[in-house]
Amino acid sequence: MVIKKLMLKNYRNYDDLDISFSDRLNIIIGDNAQGKTNILEAIYVLAVTKSYLGVNDKNLIKIGYKFSLIKAVIDKEDSLKNLEIVINDNGKKIKINNKEIKKLSDYVSNFRVILFSPDNIRMIKEGPGIRRRFLNVELSQLSNRYVKLVNDFNSLLKQRNEFIRVMNLSSNNDISYLDVIDSKFVQLAVDIYGYRKKFIDQVNEEIGNIYEKIAGFSDLVIKYHSNIDYDDDKKVMISNLYDKLKKSFDKDKNYGMTFTGPHRDDFYFYLGGKNISLYGSQGQLRMAILALKLAEIGIFTKYSGDKPILLLDDIFSELDVTKKNRLIDYIFNDVQTIITTTDINLIDTKLVENANVFVISGGKVISQVDNN
Ligand SMILES: Nc1ncnc2c1ncn2[C@@H]1O[C@H](COP(=O)(O)OP(=O)(O)OP(=O)(O)O)[C@@H](O)[C@H]1O
Ligand SMILES: [Mg+2]
Repeated sequence: MVIKKLMLKNYRNYDDLDISFSDRLNIIIGDNAQGKTNILEAIYVLAVTKSYLGVNDKNLIKIGYKFSLIKAVIDKEDSLKNLEIVINDNGKKIKINNKEIKKLSDYVSNFRVILFSPDNIRMIKEGPGIRRRFLNVELSQLSNRYVKLVNDFNSLLKQRNEFIRVMNLSSNNDISYLDVIDSKFVQLAVDIYGYRKKFIDQVNEEIGNIYEKIAGFSDLVIKYHSNIDYDDDKKVMISNLYDKLKKSFDKDKNYGMTFTGPHRDDFYFYLGGKNISLYGSQGQLRMAILALKLAEIGIFTKYSGDKPILLLDDIFSELDVTKKNRLIDYIFNDVQTIITTTDINLIDTKLVENANVFVISGGKVISQVDNN
């Protein structure tokens, strides 16, 4: 899959942008605050329908304007598609080939991107919510069914919590309704766990090798923590989880919330046997996230038979020369890639000579060199 063209109107610091990308490597150069990240963010929004920066949709609209428009032409399985998102005060509208898509869950796996942002370091440093969100976003891009599962699970969880809160207040001990919720709850929970576990297992098949290629040191692994216990037999998993739910019922009731289930999952990065959130250097954290994102290329391709688009924001800062060169060797492959940098000298001339290069200033492309 490649993005051929991107058009922005009133997006962040852009009035009008119309940019055509190379199918291979694209480099966006510009000083700070000129709009490099905004281009990658817009492509991400078009894929995932929201920003990765945890901002409100309305922050994406250029200040002083009423709406924002992101349009793209993508080439997927040898046919061109027009994608479009309009954001205004009333929400957002999404269209594929001019036809409105009402259900976001039908849309998200349509156009797949993998984005590395310096902001991703938060994924290691902060609490588990950001890591679960990462799993949910990536798996939503891979599977419509996963989106539906998570939506169904979240509404069931809400119902369960409301029910046990009412039970607590009213001393209602009729648990037959709770049993109905719980039997559905454990099925959805185990299905979500299954998707996540498979994804993390697949990441672990690749991430150590990739980290070694960049950092010269292997042994990076991700450890998935869940209060669902793995068993080869799904029925056993479901029944074990059901028992756990029942066991924690008194605690759940006292607190008015559910302590068991995939909404409490987490994962950690371990390097050389140590949790890098506690021991990792800044560079190691960056490389670990980069290795994760690069490992995802193979997984995305396996799921859909089509390569995702790789968006790499400011990857070269904070890496020493050796690591930078190793990374360059690694990303010079056949996946469409868009990278941003403030300094073209940070990028090997071999790469620049094979890339389309865009110079951005004040929300405009001020020069462009096509080498593809
Ligand atoms: N909604 C908005 N309306 C207008 N301008 C905005 C909006 N949101 C962000 N900006 C502007 O966009 C610019 C930042 O763009 P961006 O983050 O893409 O910069 P960058 O080129 O990636 O910079 P850096 O090298 O520092 O990462 C800033 O000038 C900021 O004020
Ligand atoms: Mg930036």
